[in-house]
Amino acid sequence: MTQELAPTLRDQSAAPSAGWWRDAVIYQVYVRSFADSDGDGIGDLRGVRERLPHLADLGVDAVWLTPFYASPQADGGYDVADYRSVDPLFGELSDADDLVREAHRLGLRVIVDIVPNHTSDQHAWFRAAVDGGPDAPERALYHFRPGRGPDGDLPPNDWESVFGGPAWTRTDAGDWYLHLFAPEQPDLNWEHPAVREEFESILRFWLDLGVDGFRIDVAHGMVKAEGLPDIGLREQAKMIGAQVLPFFDQDGVHEIHRSWRLLLDSYEGQRIGVAEAWAPTSERLALYVRPDELHQAFNFQFLTCAWDAAAMRQVIDSSLAATASVGAPTTWVLSNHDVVRHTTRYGGGAQGLRRARAAALLTLALPGSAYLYQGEELGLPEVADLPDGVRQDPAFFRGDGQDGLRDGCRVPIPWSGTAAPYGFGPGASWLPQPAAWAGLSVEAQTGDPRSMLELYRSALALRKELSGLGDGGMEWLPAPEGVLVFSRPGVVCTLNTLAEEVELPVPGRPVLSSGALEFGGGAVRLPGETCVWWAV
Ligand code: NOJ
Ligand code: MG
Repeated sequence: MTQELAPTLRDQSAAPSAGWWRDAVIYQVYVRSFADSDGDGIGDLRGVRERLPHLADLGVDAVWLTPFYASPQADGGYDVADYRSVDPLFGELSDADDLVREAHRLGLRVIVDIVPNHTSDQHAWFRAAVDGGPDAPERALYHFRPGRGPDGDLPPNDWESVFGGPAWTRTDAGDWYLHLFAPEQPDLNWEHPAVREEFESILRFWLDLGVDGFRIDVAHGMVKAEGLPDIGLREQAKMIGAQVLPFFDQDGVHEIHRSWRLLLDSYEGQRIGVAEAWAPTSERLALYVRPDELHQAFNFQFLTCAWDAAAMRQVIDSSLAATASVGAPTTWVLSNHDVVRHTTRYGGGAQGLRRARAAALLTLALPGSAYLYQGEELGLPEVADLPDGVRQDPAFFRGDGQDGLRDGCRVPIPWSGTAAPYGFGPGASWLPQPAAWAGLSVEAQTGDPRSMLELYRSALALRKELSGLGDGGMEWLPAPEGVLVFSRPGVVCTLNTLAEEVELPVPGRPVLSSGALEFGGGAVRLPGETCVWWAV
């Protein structure tokens, strides 16, 4: 399985000092909801391959594929039963190979998800641990503990699952096992050398197949505080949370990431690791991207930032300062498969869309690398009114306490046509698509200069043309309250976060705007919630 690199990829790897990831735009494909080739209503690897031209045309540099490995799908594939095989839902191993080759041919790199914190409860190790009874050696690969109370019928400690309920489930043998997520996702014991060895071997398997890197799921969770101490506070961990907890962001995880970096660096072609890590501060997060650790970490502080100029500026500054302190690039992300889509978070309707357009230009003008979530280039809103019967998010079945259920951001994306499934596949999609999505399809938006899709296409094309965007520095320029103005080499970016228009001196030649501009007397009237790029 050789890697066929397109000329663009070859050129970049010839200049190792730069590092392609430092300013890459990486598009997240939620495989189950991207494109269905076989009509079972579930997106698959062949579907992704057939739609790669859309991504090349959009102008992104890489794709990140969410887990497509053999899995009972208790958590959308983040419950892996066999890390080296493709689930029949998504295809077979040769489809993964074909996809990687075709992406490379089109000049796109491919990052795959790796899920090291937990396996599926159907993984051979966990089956052996449970079926073999209390003395099974495989029990040491996970966290099995006796219960508390006279009969051992209370969980070993007070930890709660991110999806709600206790983080422990009792076995028939009477002891308990730890799962920070669903009971079908038992946590691995990373103190056990066999776990470390197995994951190095899994990483090699996919690197040998030609992937360009890994998005590391729960990269902050593999190591737990010694003795699994009680938390004492009753507020449980949240998806994308920032609490200080004995099972997240422990110093011990860094040793694992350092060993993975050595492994990645032993391959040619600048293979990368990106941490999905929830850390309490930008400084703690920066530890994951020290020079001998991972290449990138998702910047969830930016994702969770309110629509407020001062707050945005503060997050931008602290993110840049933290990553600069370790020489890493910052990443920017507005949406993913775990959060409410940002057009909806920003208020929904016309306002949400206006802000999302402006936020896209802000994100793509900032120094560093950006992650896009499939469908944001179409301006898709969250689907709030899914019937309970179709929901699959494990959090939905495990009680309340969560900010949001995650199915509404996972509805299959519309490609073409006027009726569902809008070109997603030959049959009805696993989650129903709203009727209003006919107007949001790739086909409907293509060629319409006012569409979200054409805004993203223009922005990504300009990002390649204007060499000052991407990696490098930025400087804040004076601006009225509610407005952000900053310069990058050769470019000025102005964002008006206020609802009302503001008048500013014209900073240069407008090259892209998320809204209509009016000029007069050397000034520009910037409409409310609008972002503009100016060439200077
Ligand atoms: C983070 C993933 O993004 C999410 O979808 C998953 O449920 C958890 N990790 C557990 O694997
Ligand atoms: Mg399918």
